This record gives sequence, C-alpha cells and structure tokens, in this order.
Amino acid sequence: MLLRPPFENWYLRAWGIRKVWGQLALPEEVFRTFLAAPYDPSPRFVLPPQWKRREHDHPRYARFCYALARGTDARRILEVGSSAGGTTAGWALALAESARAGNDVRLVCVDDDSYNPGVYPAMTGQNIERAGLSLDHVTFHCGDSTVLLPALQKEYPRYFDVYLVDAGHTYEAALADLENGLPMVRRGGFIAVHDVDRTRPMPEATPAHAAPVYEAVEHFALTHRFDSCIVGFVRKHLAIVQVRG
Ligand SMILES: C[S@@+](CC[C@H](N)C(=O)[O-])C[C@H]1O[C@@H](n2cnc3c(N)ncnc32)[C@H](O)[C@@H]1O
Repeated sequence: MLLRPPFENWYLRAWGIRKVWGQLALPEEVFRTFLAAPYDPSPRFVLPPQWKRREHDHPRYARFCYALARGTDARRILEVGSSAGGTTAGWALALAESARAGNDVRLVCVDDDSYNPGVYPAMTGQNIERAGLSLDHVTFHCGDSTVLLPALQKEYPRYFDVYLVDAGHTYEAALADLENGLPMVRRGGFIAVHDVDRTRPMPEATPAHAAPVYEAVEHFALTHRFDSCIVGFVRKHLAIVQVRG
C-alpha cells in the first residue's frame, strides 16, 4: 500500500513498520531514521520522458534505502540496477549527509541501460546531484553485471557497507549478482535485494522458479548461513541479508 502524506506515516506507525519477517533484526536506528525521513527523499527527481508519473512509485523504497544507509552509518555503497536513480537518490541523500559530516563516501553504480536505453548514467547522475551528492563521490559502470562484478572484485575487496541487488530478475541473474557481489561486501555489511514478494507474479518466473528473486536470496542466505529478513512495507518487498562477521 502506497499512501500520500499525512496518511503514510500514520499507516506505517500503526501497522506497516511491523511488516518485517525473518530472523535478522535490523538496527532500531534504521526504523527510527525511516520514520523521521522525508516522505520522498528525491522530490526533485527527473523522470525519463517515456515514463508515466506512476512509474516513479518508489518514495518508500528510496526512503528505506536512505534509512538503511543512515541507520547503519554506511559510507560505501554498491548498487546493481540503478536505472534512472530512484533508489540511487536515497543512497545519494544519505551519503551527502555523511560527507558533510566529514566522512569519505563512495557510491558505485552498475547498469547495462537495457530497460530504458539512454537513461543510465546521464539521468541517474542528474538525480544523484539533485539529491545533493557530488558526482566526485560516484563511479558509474555500464554493462552486464554478470560480467562487470567479477572484474570489480579486485578493485573493491570487502569494501562496501551496503550492496543493493536490483538488476536482472531471473533466478540465475539474481543469484549471480549475489555471489559475485559478496566478496566486495565487508563482514557485518548488508545486502538488500528487491522484488522478493512471492505473491506477485513475475515475468521472469519459470516452472522451476516461480518466485525467482526470492528463491535466489533464500538459496544464497542458506548456503552462506547468513541471517536475513524481508521488509514487507516496501513495494514488491526488499530482502536484507547480513554478511556474517
Ligand atoms: C528494476 S530496474 C532498477 C530500478 C532502480 N533500482 C530504481 O529503484 O529506480 C532494473 C535495472 O537493471 C538493469 N539491468 C537488468 N539486467 C542487467 C544486467 N544483467 N546487468 C546490468 N544491469 C541490468 C536494467 O537496465 C534496469 O535499469
């Protein structure tokens, strides 16, 4: 359910914020920051011309990204699947605040620009700047994540505090992004994965994998014995996995 203010926070406080399932207990600071954060962390977001207004339906998703970064004091963030920067703007706002507090921050984005050709990285960059983060703190990689991530592992060993997986939504693509990104996440860091709502039909579903991204995260977390939870108040649900310390 996506509500407009003032109903949004009323719903979240009364019920929504408790829609988190799983053994991983996220730091309370994440929820406190989320509830105190602006409804839309990217009010000046530029939409690709071909998008309908309702396609920028992410205020709560981006707001959660902002809260996850601030609530865990993340300074280095990797995002695979940035598109025009809906979620990137949430990270950017958090990192801009951290940079103003004197911290060294870095945002690394990966996208192959396949869904909306021409959008990434130009519009993504505009939206990052509009959220207040200088592009000096940002690195864009353009290409297939299954090829790029293995190549980036040498550059960023155990480097990132938070990693968002939101690119290819087949079981194989999501699992490859999880496994290929893992060596770049520090111990104790968090991996967030979007589109894990099992009740929602997905075009990438197959007879073997009816809920492809959910199943990929489940397999990944079980294999590595990482704790995880599902944030059910973010549209299409967001899984969070903590990399074991
Ligand atoms: C669901 S959109 C990301 C949305 C974005 N996180 C947001 O909330 O605004 C998925 C993005 O992943 C990109 N993508 C899909 N498969 C990819 C792959 N194999 N490698 C890199 N990027 C990919 C698409 O071009 C698209 O921009």
